[in-house]
Amino acid sequence: MVELDSLTPKAIVAELDKYVIGQNKAKRAVAIALRNRTRRLKLPEESRDEVAPKNILMIGPTGVGKTEIARRLARLSGAPFLKVEATKYTEVGYVGRDVESMIRDLMAVGYSMVKAEMQATLRGEAEKRAEEILLDLLLPGMKKKDTPSAPLVALPAGETAKETDGGSADQGSTREKFRAMLRAGTLDDRVVEVSVQRSGNAGFEVFAGSSNIEDLEMSVANITNLITGGKSKKKSVSVREAREIIIAEQLDKLVDQDKITEEAKYRVEETGIVFIDEIDKIANRSDRSGGQDVSREGVQRDILPIVEGSNVTTKFGVIDTTHILFIAAGAFNVSKPSDLIPELQGRFPLRVELESLVEADFRRILLEPKNALTKQYRDLLATEGVTLSFADEAIDRMSALAAEVNARMENIGARRLHTILETLLEDLSFNANDLAGQSVEITREYVDERLKDISQDQDLSRYIL
Ligand SMILES: Nc1ncnc2c1ncn2[C@@H]1O[C@H](COP(=O)(O)OP(=O)(O)OP(=O)(O)O)[C@@H](O)[C@H]1O
Ligand SMILES: [Mg+2]
Repeated sequence: MVELDSLTPKAIVAELDKYVIGQNKAKRAVAIALRNRTRRLKLPEESRDEVAPKNILMIGPTGVGKTEIARRLARLSGAPFLKVEATKYTEVGYVGRDVESMIRDLMAVGYSMVKAEMQATLRGEAEKRAEEILLDLLLPGMKKKDTPSAPLVALPAGETAKETDGGSADQGSTREKFRAMLRAGTLDDRVVEVSVQRSGNAGFEVFAGSSNIEDLEMSVANITNLITGGKSKKKSVSVREAREIIIAEQLDKLVDQDKITEEAKYRVEETGIVFIDEIDKIANRSDRSGGQDVSREGVQRDILPIVEGSNVTTKFGVIDTTHILFIAAGAFNVSKPSDLIPELQGRFPLRVELESLVEADFRRILLEPKNALTKQYRDLLATEGVTLSFADEAIDRMSALAAEVNARMENIGARRLHTILETLLEDLSFNANDLAGQSVEITREYVDERLKDISQDQDLSRYIL
């Protein structure tokens, strides 16, 4: 997790710049919103509660970086982050209460985030324990001998070190021999029998997309567990697998569930971010009517209390949503932000517009981001031993084509680059394994050869590009 203090608005924008080209207004807005939360946490308790997060509404055509900005923001802030599609809640079978599932899912994200962090610090300890348990499994009947080097661990009840009234020196040395072999990996393929716990805890690992049905299934699983007593199952596995299973099990025992929950709750409430995508799809024009619209407005009404701040019950306890940051985004090409119900509009005071992308942007998008498409293809083909490079002029051609096709047909923003590159490199991707050891330069001619005809044929480009 990044130190929040060092994330000045400038630093945030600089970080976003590594992945998203242009869109400076949007980057500044999210950077300020993020910074304001660290600022708020420094206020004295009384005034802290007064500061509500400045929720953001990002408006812009499709494929210009709305979702990308939100995704990068979450990663760099190390905050629990959840992306939902507003349309999800208008689907058949969803009822109002379900909008709250976004908070339940966010909390699940926070929980697993904190759990992973805590487990990372305990990994060494779990590995030590796993080694002892593996030795017990490999040397059945031989009592565990206390070696002076053995760590002084307080083992949980039921697992107290089996005190030996003198495991012979012989046994001890066998154990040490096995330990050495175990560490060297020479026993990795041996088969041992481990008992795998099917505990109710597994139910915690249900994430985003959890709906009522999943929750239901989970409770069914938990009930089944209750009935069967969360029984363990014997399973024969290699030492290599057993080690991982045992480490995971020990990690589960070592972490303090309550501490995780407490920390996760704090992080979710104070730093959590929910990104509501496609919000324009639930905005309805007043002149339209019908079943669909009713449910759209219904969803807005259901979202409202969550954005305004309310208590949502999750399996980790009650979460107060007052200070969670909500970022909503939508293309708003049919509806307008003013088509949202007024109360909801008011809860998204910060409006930022993202610009449509032009040829010059495409050029930079192809080359500059850390995960730029040309870099991705280069790395992919490198795994086949093919050295791929792009001539400057080829990049120019692709950018011009993307802008052209976007203008002539639907403007799908930077997504156009995906289809263009995919079509361009299809042949190469297919035959890459025959080209191992070779270098391939994509030239302007190559681009024209593959794409010119397609791009000039309306019908073809409609389907292919
Ligand atoms: N400004 C940009 N810089 C770099 N890459 C971009 C930019 N805009 C879009 N992309 C790339 O294009 C793809 C689509 O972008 P993104 O998912 O952010 O679109 P969006 O604005 O959320 O569109 P939609 O309204 O359809 O959800 C992603 O792969 C993203 O990396
Ligand atoms: Mg999007």
